[in-house]
Amino acid sequence: MRQRLAVGNWKMHGSLPENRSLLDAIVAGAAGLRRAACAVCVPFPYLAQAQSALAGSKVAWGAQNVSQHPRGAFTGEVSAAMLREFGCRYVLVGHSERRQLFGEDDATVAAKAGAALAAGLTPIVCVGETLAEREGNVTEEVVGRQVAAVADALGAGGLAASVLAYEPVWAIGTGKTATPEQAQAVHAFIRGQLAGRDGKMAAALQILYGGSVKASNAAELFAKADVDGGLVGGAALVAQEFIAICKAADSAQPD
Ligand code: PGA
Repeated sequence: MRQRLAVGNWKMHGSLPENRSLLDAIVAGAAGLRRAACAVCVPFPYLAQAQSALAGSKVAWGAQNVSQHPRGAFTGEVSAAMLREFGCRYVLVGHSERRQLFGEDDATVAAKAGAALAAGLTPIVCVGETLAEREGNVTEEVVGRQVAAVADALGAGGLAASVLAYEPVWAIGTGKTATPEQAQAVHAFIRGQLAGRDGKMAAALQILYGGSVKASNAAELFAKADVDGGLVGGAALVAQEFIAICKAADSAQPD
């Protein structure tokens, strides 16, 4: 059975004092979770703060990007081993903002996921179509290509140790959430695609939905059979919103 998971993506937001109160509130709110898991992916400079605030709590933490290289002359980059030193469990890979604004292609995303796995991190690999692609009826083609690139590089064993996040680009930060039916359709498509490679891995793989997840829509999204939780941007910066989303994941988790 797949555990439900709610992950906050803070993006480039926060400050030491703001984070302190947000992290403390999330720890308190997450204490009552019985089945679901939750995590926050914070900017690199705040990893030490997240580690000290969250260690021993029900909240895991991670980063939002990682180098595909293990070490070397890559100014400004951060390796997966460095993230491990700060207790990270997760790292986002291939977020649409990385793909669109920083030119990350499928091969780079796959290499980053591989580097994360090699260091013992769980990559949360993000895929999703743009509005033009959805309107052009090529959602499955685009998402299928993104998923295949990662599956080819990682193999079934690597995917079994990863998490996928379906984030339609048109729903990110726009307040325009995919309907539960739209999300479910793509999640089922991804799971079906991967079942063609390895049925057991596909059945066990956590596939999160992301794109304007809020406390008010989380329960209906997470109720869908193939939606195993959420990757949450804006709403993850508001403690009560994020806690409510974690609780929705908890309630959606079958016993
Ligand atoms: P959003 O962001 O929840 O603000 O739409 C989601 C994401 O980018 O992961």
